[in-house]
Amino acid sequence: MYKEYQKEAQKIISKMTLKEKIGQLNQITITPYMNDIKNLHSMIRNGEVGSIILASSATAGNDPQGHVNVDLYNELQKIAVEESRMGIPMIYGRDVIHGHRTVYPLPLASASAFNDSLIEKCYRNIAEEATADGIRWTFSPMLDICHDPRWGRIVEGPGEDPYVGAQMAKACVKGFQGDDLTDKTSLVACAKHYLGYGFSEGGKDYFRTEISDATLQNYVLPAFRAAVDCGVGTVMSSFNDINGIPVSGSKKYLNDILRGQLGFEGFVVSDWGAVEQQEAMGFAEDRKDCAKNSIKAGLDLDMCDKCYIENLEALVNEGQVSEETINLAVERMLCVKLAMGLFQRPYGEKHDYDKEMHLADARELAAESMVLLKNDGVLPLKKDANIALFGPFVSERRSLLGTWSLDGSEKDTPTICEAMSAAKSGGKLIVHNTNGLFDNSEYLSTDADVIVLALGESHWTTGEHHSVSDISLYASQIDLINRMRSTGKKVVGVFFCGRPMALEGVVENLDAVLYAWHSGSETANAACDILFGDVVPSGKTPVTFPRKATHIPLYYNITASSHPVNGYYGDHPQDNYTDSIATPLYPFGFGLSYTKFEYSNLVVDKQEITLEDLKQGAKFDVSISVTNIGDYDGKETVQLYIRDKVASLMRPMRELKGYKKELIKQNQTTNVNFQLSYNDLGFYNENGEYLVEKGEFEIYVGENCLTENKLSIKVV
Ligand code: BGC
Repeated sequence: MYKEYQKEAQKIISKMTLKEKIGQLNQITITPYMNDIKNLHSMIRNGEVGSIILASSATAGNDPQGHVNVDLYNELQKIAVEESRMGIPMIYGRDVIHGHRTVYPLPLASASAFNDSLIEKCYRNIAEEATADGIRWTFSPMLDICHDPRWGRIVEGPGEDPYVGAQMAKACVKGFQGDDLTDKTSLVACAKHYLGYGFSEGGKDYFRTEISDATLQNYVLPAFRAAVDCGVGTVMSSFNDINGIPVSGSKKYLNDILRGQLGFEGFVVSDWGAVEQQEAMGFAEDRKDCAKNSIKAGLDLDMCDKCYIENLEALVNEGQVSEETINLAVERMLCVKLAMGLFQRPYGEKHDYDKEMHLADARELAAESMVLLKNDGVLPLKKDANIALFGPFVSERRSLLGTWSLDGSEKDTPTICEAMSAAKSGGKLIVHNTNGLFDNSEYLSTDADVIVLALGESHWTTGEHHSVSDISLYASQIDLINRMRSTGKKVVGVFFCGRPMALEGVVENLDAVLYAWHSGSETANAACDILFGDVVPSGKTPVTFPRKATHIPLYYNITASSHPVNGYYGDHPQDNYTDSIATPLYPFGFGLSYTKFEYSNLVVDKQEITLEDLKQGAKFDVSISVTNIGDYDGKETVQLYIRDKVASLMRPMRELKGYKKELIKQNQTTNVNFQLSYNDLGFYNENGEYLVEKGEFEIYVGENCLTENKLSIKVV
């Protein structure tokens, strides 16, 4: 896809000076030059800038941002195109992560929707909006699988499951890039952070990782494989090391695995400063050494730390780096620029888009992302009920947008209080923002039929550089819940969070729990859609919710242990811990509805299949009937897991291999079918070779990863 432009790129490269080539590998941020614009102009004119990042700092995710300015970008582009000797356009990139002007749910929240086509549609909308502001490249999707919710960046990714990661990768890349990369609304995607960043020890940001090659292949790489398979244009190399080797200086990860094994054809950009950081990490002597490591490893574009522009020329002249290595990196840069038609259309083109439709899609995805964790019958609420709405999130706007909402408008984001008063058709709405010094919530609740508490965590505890050591709910919020419980009224907790929080001892004192996440511009409206029953909840957890923070790491796709312990799958005589029960509070894939689904009739169309037939493309069908036996039409995400009982590499006790989200009307039965093939049954060995081994495979189909609907098939 990108390699078809190789010849054209090489033709351009043959006319370039070494300096101009190195300029293509240099990405700068314009913020420091805003008072020195002449200097910026001359750098561009001299061919020293291949790309501009539209971010104001190295940790821009929670920064208050200035808005984008397409006229300025076009003015600078004009200099690159018309006044530089080679006339090569620059590529502008921005962190358009889960929305642009319209903000969609955080990626972790979107993953809860288990609705790939809706996610793809929303990411297409995002691309339409970003390109209208002159942005043609985004640093998204983030595909870091993570087992530790203390990590602030878990919110930016798909959660704990490689299959969900791969589905998200496809939906986001297809949505961003569209069908035709040259279209003015196409946004080149960037799969990040390659590689293993989500495995940072203790959830500490920028920290070390220890990842075995087998874990890398089976947990960490699948989402990147999927992104590459659907043509992602760029990949971002991460800050972390794996087993003592910084990824941004590693030929093994950047070249051998990414290009050799995965077949990636686009260019690799470093994360911000990830080249120079090798010095701090004790992997390079100085900045020059950093540049040498990275360019040799296969890192093409240096984000913001100037290591390349300052050192590559000398490294080539001294014979430490060959010009051929530089040419290769430039070729990859140019192939992407050519593939996106940047030479023909270098300028940002303002265009209209259907803002209302984008908001409607954001509301739909937000509602599908929210997970109903508990409901003792209090939900849905009556629109004319007397409702007391209390808690620290009653008037919150910014956190609802979530981290990395650079261009979302806080003031246009309704609060839960505004959304609720718009949704109600009568009765009182008694509002108290329980955030101050004086709290008379008990007294205020006297007239209420039901109490709704708006709870959660600020966006300041999520995102880059914002890890936390404890995912327990704040003591003040627990106190509020307990006090409201003592009123004897029904109490509903709505949690606006970026990560799973440890809620043992909390949910017991609530009659209903809606996990609303930081779901973007329409968070509050979508939450009200669910609270009042206009939308029947259908989100499912893409990460495990531990009972206690101290149970981390806790994730569903674990291998069996030598002694049957009570870790994830049921009650065993031995407990992991002597002081608590270490099963999850809510397992992976869990989520309630207002209606009820009954599963029956799980069947497979054969008991045995030969490995040879599988290799030749044979498939087998698994199906199950799902009946809506409740009082509402509703959507159910039917999930299929496998377990390879015996293998040469221990396999997880459950591995998600498919899901289907179906709307099932009241009293209706739907047959849900899955087809499994060679690609679903195997695993990668540590050398990256894919294997399917003979033996028994258990297949589970049901409502979450603990489903007991099971059959088996033999591969012979
Ligand atoms: C973050 C990336 C981001 C980049 C550019 C880095 O600090 O780790 O996720 O894309 O900055 O803003």
